[in-house]
Amino acid sequence: MTKLNGLKKINVAVFISGKGSNLKNLIKNSKKHNSRFKISLVISNNSRALGLKFAQKFNITKKVINFNNKSLIEKKLIFILEKKKIDIICLAGFMKILSKNFIKKFNGKILNIHPSLLPKYKGLNTHMRAIRNKEKYSGCTVHFVNSKLDSGKIILQKKVKILKKDTPKSLASRVLIQEHVLYSKAINKIIANL
Ligand code: GRF
Repeated sequence: MTKLNGLKKINVAVFISGKGSNLKNLIKNSKKHNSRFKISLVISNNSRALGLKFAQKFNITKKVINFNNKSLIEKKLIFILEKKKIDIICLAGFMKILSKNFIKKFNGKILNIHPSLLPKYKGLNTHMRAIRNKEKYSGCTVHFVNSKLDSGKIILQKKVKILKKDTPKSLASRVLIQEHVLYSKAINKIIANL
């Protein structure tokens, strides 16, 4: 934790692989005057991830890490996270699976955002599957990460109504708008218990 303007702030690392719109909104919300968290580090497994430009723009330390040799890389990663005194890790469109050891080390401190109302539609293509199954609602979930895919304890969810005319793309863009609000709310919710 760091102390800024007399307020204790939680240090957050965000892991990305692509666009980084969730990262962008986490940064934006972290800059609000009553925010209790600060984005201190951005990790990407992909040097071409568009989201890296937000780290650049807001002067946040960023590291591109090749996750191919997982055990070696995770050791390096743990060193970086400890050096930056990271309190929580937020996965935001991060497409790599973290090892059981890594998850154990940061037990209760890794969050993920998933574009469905978990436990429904774990994994990929969530919107396509929800539409195909004629669901009335889709949505998004922020949950703790455990060793099973998209299965950790749910922190917050937001429902989004599926419209008759929805395609996976149109539904994804409405859900994404809700993701941008939900992730910061979820962080604020868990801060009290850290
Ligand atoms: C989001 O829909 C998130 O739920 C999923 O991947 C997408 C990432 O989007 N895990 P972005 O990179 O934050 O724009």
